[in-house]
Amino acid sequence: METTQKAAEPGAMLRALGILSIRDLNREQSRDQPTREGLLAQKRVLIRCDFNVPLDGDVITDDSRIRGAIPTIEFCRKADARVILCSHLGRPKGKKNPKYSLEPVARKLAELLACDVLLPDDCIGDAAVHLIANQRPGQVVLLENLRFHPEEEENSEDFARKLADLCDIYVDDAFGCVHRAHASVSALPRLMPARAAGFLLEREIEYLSKLTQSPESPYVAILGGAKVSDKIEVIESLVQIVDVLVIGGAMAYTFLTAQGHNMGLSLVERDHVQLAKHLLQRCEERGVTVLLPQDHVVVKEVKADAPSRIVDNGHFADDDIAVDIGPATIQTYCDMLAGGIGKGAPRTILWNGPMGIFEMDAFAAGTMALAKAIAQTAATSIVGGGDSVAAVKKAGVTPLISHVSTGGGASLEFISGKPMPGIAALRGGRR
Ligand code: 3PG
Repeated sequence: METTQKAAEPGAMLRALGILSIRDLNREQSRDQPTREGLLAQKRVLIRCDFNVPLDGDVITDDSRIRGAIPTIEFCRKADARVILCSHLGRPKGKKNPKYSLEPVARKLAELLACDVLLPDDCIGDAAVHLIANQRPGQVVLLENLRFHPEEEENSEDFARKLADLCDIYVDDAFGCVHRAHASVSALPRLMPARAAGFLLEREIEYLSKLTQSPESPYVAILGGAKVSDKIEVIESLVQIVDVLVIGGAMAYTFLTAQGHNMGLSLVERDHVQLAKHLLQRCEERGVTVLLPQDHVVVKEVKADAPSRIVDNGHFADDDIAVDIGPATIQTYCDMLAGGIGKGAPRTILWNGPMGIFEMDAFAAGTMALAKAIAQTAATSIVGGGDSVAAVKKAGVTPLISHVSTGGGASLEFISGKPMPGIAALRGGRR
C-alpha cells in the first residue's frame, strides 16, 4: 500500500470505532521507535496478514500486499515481540495443496525483513507449536496457508482456539479479508482480549471512511470492469453520495444497452439491463451526473494484434466487440477530472475497475489515460481493486495517488456500507 497524504489524527478513526491500534496497545506515540518495555515485549504476537498475492508459478508478480504489512511487522519486532504471521493464499478449498503454499511469501518476507522466516508445514499442530516455542530473537514465524483447513472458512471456534493457543496478542493487518467471516479474522480475535489493528488496516479504514462519512465535494466515482452485477451494491450506495458517476469497461455496455444502443457482440449482461435502467433513473432523481462512453475501440476478435477501429454509440455493426473507451470519451473524462465540465474540479475521486481490456497494450489507452489524469488532480484520490491498482502501477503514477487500497472485494464492500466481520471482531480490545 502506498500513500502520499497523512491522516489528520492518527488513530482517531479507530478509537471512534472502539478499536485499539498496535500503537495504543503498546502505548506508543510513534511507530518508528516503539519501546521495548511495552506490552508487546516478549509476547507472542500473531499478525493476520493478507498475503494473497498473485503468483506466476512460484514467482510473486505483485508484492504490494507483503510490502504493505512490513510497517506493522517491523513495529512489533522493534517492540521486542515474538512475531508470528498468518494468511491465506488462493482458494485451496480446505485441502493441503503445494500450489497454494506460502513458501514464496516466506522467501519474499525473509528478503524484505532481512531475517529468518520459518514456515511450519501446517498452521496448527505440533510443527507450529514446536517452531514457536523454539523461535529465536529476530526470527519470524509464518504459519502455512490457513485455508488448508476447511474450518478457516467455516469460522470454526475450535480452529480459532487452536490458533489462539499459539499467541498472546492478536493483530489484524489483513484489510483485504475483513469482509470475510472466517476464523482467523472473526472467531479468533473474539477469543483474544488483547487485540488491535495494524497500521495497514488503520490507514485503509481512515481513507475509506472518508468516502462514506465526509467526502469533500465534488466527489467523482469512476467505475469500470466487466460486470454491473459485481458492483450493484456499491453503485446503489454511491448514488446517495457522489456528484459524478463515470462508467467505463464492459459494464458500460450494459448501461448503454439500457439506453437503447446496439453494442454488437460486446459483453452485455442482458439480465441486468433493467437494473442498469433503474440505476440511471436513480442518478437522475438525485442529480448525479452520469458519464458513459460516447465512442469505443472495437474489434471483430479479442486478440492483441486484432485490427481495431473507433466507433461511436449508434454505429455498431452486429459483430463489433468493444474493448476500450475511444478518444472522444477519454477527452471528456479527462476534461471532467481537470474540472472542465459540470461541477468543478473534483475534491474526492474513487476509482475501481479498468476502462477496457488493459492487460493488452493495444486496448490500454483509456485505462492509462484515466490513471494519469487522476494522478494530476489535487483531489484526495483512492484507487481500489486489483486491476486499477495494477493500472496505476503500469502508468507509473502510484506515488501521486492519495491511497492505493490493498483490498479488492473488501474496499467495495466497505464503501457499500456492508457489515465487516473482521472490523466488528476487533472492537473492545484491551491491553
Ligand atoms: C482478496 O484477494 O481480495 C482477499 O485476499 C480475499 O480473498 P478471497 O476473495 O479469496 O476471500
